[in-house]
Formats: sequence, structure tokens, C-alpha cells
Amino acid sequence: MLKLSMKPTGWFQIGWSGEIPPGGVKPMKYFGEDMVAFRSDEGKLTVMDAHCRHLGAHLGYGGKVKKDCIVCPYHGWQWNGEGANTLVPYQDKPTGAKLRTRHIVERHGIIFMWHDPAGGAPRGEGWELPDIFADFPEIPANEKDFYPCYPNAVVNMPGEPMHPQMVVENAPDTTHFHFTHGTPECPDLEWFDTSSGAWRSEMAFKSPKTKEKALSLYLINPCISLSFSAFNGGNVKYRLILTATPVDDKTSDFRVNYFFPRDPASPDVMPESVRAFARHTVELFEQDARMWRHQIFVQKPVFSKQDIAGYTAMRKWSERFYEAPAGPAPMRVVETF
Ligand code: FES
Ligand SMILES: [Fe+2]
Repeated sequence: MLKLSMKPTGWFQIGWSGEIPPGGVKPMKYFGEDMVAFRSDEGKLTVMDAHCRHLGAHLGYGGKVKKDCIVCPYHGWQWNGEGANTLVPYQDKPTGAKLRTRHIVERHGIIFMWHDPAGGAPRGEGWELPDIFADFPEIPANEKDFYPCYPNAVVNMPGEPMHPQMVVENAPDTTHFHFTHGTPECPDLEWFDTSSGAWRSEMAFKSPKTKEKALSLYLINPCISLSFSAFNGGNVKYRLILTATPVDDKTSDFRVNYFFPRDPASPDVMPESVRAFARHTVELFEQDARMWRHQIFVQKPVFSKQDIAGYTAMRKWSERFYEAPAGPAPMRVVETF
């Protein structure tokens, strides 16, 4: 059974690169921890503990970037990108104190952070962060053929009372597409594979007329908070990354990042029709969120025939991300009822 908690292990989205330009500072809170992100004048992003080791000021509120350091707004102590105290302005030497920095990756305009409840570094094989363009062997793509996701093709739903597990549980849930989202028919789960460490699968949507496969949805879930999706069929060739990051034990920040193919008629500027499509999908995710906000988590559900193979594999695959003890979560957890 899943030790459902809001402290899973893995990679998580904590924002967009474009939110923090060189010299920028942003306060943030994830996994119940106060953090500050700042970008040096040269462009290096650092995410670290928020509270100054001197008297505890939050560096994210009033802190200023000076070259490669952040300056505390309270008494001017400086901290560099390794978290080291580099200056106490009114004494000869810095103190040697350090702030804990986080492991981050910036990729295609998204900031990802590694979280290990035991404090370990990012892991290798089986724990890799996928690349939305390079890692779908079925439909290889190149970043330059797509518009950047930020700022015009993203959905931002901060502070939702939802558990990230719900994001990945969409992968085996074929029947909800019809009943929750109104697709003409339920798609089929063509295959799934967890042998590489990540969850990989293909869901096929059939044409209501011909009953032939008309659209494939390829998925890579590297961990329980991230779902990399690539659509392939007819004119539908876009990709997206769905993410949910625990803020504390009660809420998650929920985000969607779209990558739309560039229109040859307007390769540099995303057309308004594409932006409008991204905006309107808020309603699509609201359809899911309406369930997720009020759902209880059933450890041993009563499955339908369509659910059983995919869901059983999904729950088994999810177990390894819950290394922390089961803890409080936004959802009430029941074994069965
Ligand atoms: S609290 Fe940061 S310098 Fe004093
Ligand atoms: Fe859904």
C-alpha cells in the first residue's frame, strides 16, 4: 500500500526560468520549507534556504542580488550560490556559516528541483528527468521547432488542496476521458512499461466513425509529480508537461507547460489562436481538479475490468517514490470501505 505523504522523492517543478531574470529574487515554499531563488548578474540560478543564518530574515523579501551573491535586507550579510557567507560588511572576515542549497535543473524554460526527504543528491539510472523533445522514441522532435512554453502557453494553479499522485493516476485512467472530459469514446491503454524506472505508456483514441486509431497520447512519468505527454495524430502534435508540487501537507502548486509546434506563418511569435487554446485548457484541468480537490484516496479500490491492469501497475510503480513515512496529506486515505 502506498505510504501517501506530501514528501515524495523525485523531481518537481518549482517555477519558470522567465520568472527570475538576472538580478531577480523570488521567495518560495515547497515541502513545508521556506526557500529563496535568485539569479546572479551572469545568469546562474540558485535555490536555497530562505532564512539568513544571522538573525533569520527571509532573503526572498527585500534581498538584492550583487554579482553572484544575495544581500540580506536586514544587516547586509552576503551569501553566494553555494550558500556560503561571503561578507559581513562591518567585520574583517565572513563567518563560515552556510545555507543549504537545492539541486535544480533548468530545461526548456522550466525550473525543476530534486527532492529527497533524506537530503540525498539527485540519483542516476532510473531516476532521470526526461526531456520533452528527445525522450519519446516513437515521435522524435527538436526544441527549435516548438514555441517556448513560458509565458504564453502555461497554466498556473497555485495552492490547490490536491495530492500530486492524482496527476500520474490519469495515466491508466482511460474511462475518465469520456465521463470527465467528454471525449466521444474511452481511449485504450495500448501498453505500459515501468522497466526503465519511469512509467511509460501509450493511450490510443479511436475515430468514432472508423474505429481506427486516430490519436496517440504517449506518456512518461519519471516520478509521481510530473507527467510528460506527447500527442500524435492528424493536426495534433503538441506536447505538455503536467506538474504538481507539494507546498506543505495540505496544498500543491499545479502547473501545465505546453509546447506547440511553430506555425510557419508566424515562427517567432505565438499566434493568438494558440495562446487562446492554452488559456481555455484551464477548464479541462478544472474538470480533473474538481474531482481531485474532494476525492478520498482508496488504497484498495473496487476496479472495473478496464482499470485493473493499468491501475495495479501504477500503484505498484508509485511505491518507490514514498520513502518518507506516511504523513498528513490533503486527501483522506482509506484502505477500503
Ligand atoms: S538577519 Fe541577515 S544580515 Fe542579519
Ligand atoms: Fe483528466
